[in-house]
Amino acid sequence: MTTVPDALAAPARGALSFTHRFLPATDPAAAPLLLLHGTGGDENDLIPLGRMLSPGAALLSPRGKISEGGMPRFFRRLAEGVFDEEDVVRRAHELADFIGEARAAYGLAAPVAVGFSNGANIAAAMLMLRPDVLSGAALLRAMVPLANPPAGTLPGTPVLMLSGAADPIVPANNAARLVAQLEQRGARVEHRTLPGGHGLTPTDMTAMRDWLTRTGAAAA
Ligand code: MLT
Repeated sequence: MTTVPDALAAPARGALSFTHRFLPATDPAAAPLLLLHGTGGDENDLIPLGRMLSPGAALLSPRGKISEGGMPRFFRRLAEGVFDEEDVVRRAHELADFIGEARAAYGLAAPVAVGFSNGANIAAAMLMLRPDVLSGAALLRAMVPLANPPAGTLPGTPVLMLSGAADPIVPANNAARLVAQLEQRGARVEHRTLPGGHGLTPTDMTAMRDWLTRTGAAAA
């Protein structure tokens, strides 16, 4: 694996409103990636994924502030797949504000989110509540975070949604509903259902890399 200077990661931890890691870009042409982990993950989890997806990109990776039995998450849930929507709204705004802080602190362009599971769900909520914050999003195993999100307009934001055909957590009709919500708001959604369940596979990597290259988010 490429060794990337991580000099800014340590001083940055805790200095802004989320515990996070930041790895500066080595390729200024690559869009920054916002890495959002799943339940039980943390700010370290998706760094290798981000590096593989876009080797020269700046990586910003916050840790979700909710603890569910010690497992970090980005918002509260009442049960598996049943979300505390008030908390979703509050936490999506909180995370969007953090992205603004981090952009100012590190001199970043609007990032492309790469979110897995709970991280994909908070990214989807941010797209609908704060449409200007993300320049794109790859949503891995996402589901509807808000049953009735407020009206809003996404400026043609590219979104890749990758679902698992045998995902025991995300029913196909739920994923389809999220696609519809995003498209109604103007997102350019590419939705693919891949063989497999809730976990990521090499096919997810290939699909994401291809999408990032096609949308211009990764340096060629
Ligand atoms: C959630 O946000 O709760 C996810 O969809 C499922 C999970 O994180 O386990």
